[in-house]
Amino acid sequence: MSKTESWGTRVGLILAMAGNAVGFGNFLRFPVQAVQNGGGVFIIPYLVSFLLMGIPLLFVEWSIGRYGGNKGFHSTPFMMQSLDRRRIWKYVGVFGIFSNIGIAAYYTFMESWTLGYLIHSIKGSFNGLDQEGVVNVFNSYIALDQATLFQGESLVLFVVVLALNVFILSRGLSGGVEKVAKIGMPLLIGFGVILAIRAFTLKSGVDGAVNGGSVGLNFLWTPQFDSMWNPKVWFAAAGQMFFTLSLGMGSIHAYSSYLKKKDDIALNAMSAGWMNEFVEVVLGGAIIIPISIGYLGIDRVVELASAGGLGMGFKTLPYLFAQWGPILSIIAGIMWFGLLFFAGITSSLAMGVPVLGFLRDEFKWSRLKAAIAFGVIILLLGLPTVFFFNQGVFDEYDYWTGTFSLFVFAALEVILFSWFFGMNKGWREINAGADIKVSVVFKFLLRYITPPILIIVFVGAVITPEGNDWAGAFQSLMNGGGWDFDNGSLIGKIMNTGLREQLAAATDPEVISDLKYKLLLTNLSRILLMGLFVAISLVVRKAYKKRKKEGRGF
Ligand code: ALA
Repeated sequence: MSKTESWGTRVGLILAMAGNAVGFGNFLRFPVQAVQNGGGVFIIPYLVSFLLMGIPLLFVEWSIGRYGGNKGFHSTPFMMQSLDRRRIWKYVGVFGIFSNIGIAAYYTFMESWTLGYLIHSIKGSFNGLDQEGVVNVFNSYIALDQATLFQGESLVLFVVVLALNVFILSRGLSGGVEKVAKIGMPLLIGFGVILAIRAFTLKSGVDGAVNGGSVGLNFLWTPQFDSMWNPKVWFAAAGQMFFTLSLGMGSIHAYSSYLKKKDDIALNAMSAGWMNEFVEVVLGGAIIIPISIGYLGIDRVVELASAGGLGMGFKTLPYLFAQWGPILSIIAGIMWFGLLFFAGITSSLAMGVPVLGFLRDEFKWSRLKAAIAFGVIILLLGLPTVFFFNQGVFDEYDYWTGTFSLFVFAALEVILFSWFFGMNKGWREINAGADIKVSVVFKFLLRYITPPILIIVFVGAVITPEGNDWAGAFQSLMNGGGWDFDNGSLIGKIMNTGLREQLAAATDPEVISDLKYKLLLTNLSRILLMGLFVAISLVVRKAYKKRKKEGRGF
């Protein structure tokens, strides 16, 4: 992508931005998060997070992107420094490249599962399997160390999906990314609506459904106020908000950097953001859970959701579709996995655009060369998630690049925008060329509410006490009893407390050696990710020096 690159049409831009946001987060992560966090309890923190963090941050990221783009920056490192001259900001901007690469490494692997499952739905590979059989297919499909069925196919398809991403990226914004969004997004929404209607209309007893889809919808949407004050639910809701809107990633900035100075961002940001919420809350909430509960009951679905998040749509739906008969099951399989494929690819392309933008801006690489470099980096970084899926490498990537980094970057960028760049200037940026009047409430939120909330949420995630029992933890601290960190807290993660507890309790030598292996790979994957961050920082430093030498900016 270069300075001369631009979006073809406004509709294309909005669809591409919506495609950037709409992804596995909407259809696989959101429903599972909602179930894990108590169904109706989740929705209020989720919506409040959207209003207090989601929308304000969308304005910030679109603004920073357009502002930086007009100064010739198409990725976050130098965009950040263009808002405030302190040199440190460009290293904060490294997060906007790091997250995209880290997430793409496991995200494109998931994209390859959707392609594989699409092919197997058409071939009828799931026919005749019982529910456990379909779960087993998934487990052996993704883990190469256990692959029995479709041996090695996931690796081949991973490479195919990467090649496809590279090809589309090499065609540029209007010729590649925008075209895919224009085809993919309407198809995805159409497939989603049809599947949601089918889920709504599942009747008790029809095709073997025991409860009917409405039970699942009631479970998800009946607000329950009792555990709303549990911080865990708030962290989960805020984390979901970041992931689904692609906030704190750097991809929104990169897309928006190809806008002109006076192009609207206010209405565009709202259109893409609300489209994402429609797809997430209305469609994402209406497919996996209602259909699964219709057949399997609430208890089993809660159990499946707790056991393993993102795989649930692969472990349950092929079996449930098979109950609809041979023809309908093929159609439903094509729609579900086709929908997931388009959701995935429109997001992974958005992860490539900032990387290409950086390489083209700083080192004048051709689009094709930069796209191939992106593909090779993702392949190399993605292989450990393919080979060591069962040792938790995939989950490590997801946590550090798909949750932790997003929080850190979002918190720092909003502080930069509101407090260093200055909210008065920031407000002028948001409103320049705006096609809607943005409520002044957002100016207040951005200055006084969003930054502290982000800091509180982050600190809370770092020190979450055991069992999320905040009252108990404070009491224990007062009584001089210390503070026990939860296994899921950031500190607990760094110290591997969960794995260490399992190790301490294990007696079987085989289990002990498996756990030790897992511990080793968990630590190695963190070192790898840290190495990636340092490597990107060094490249940014090199680019900075090059710029200075050539007298370009700074
Ligand atoms: N926002 C993208 C998703 O929801 C990354 O999957």
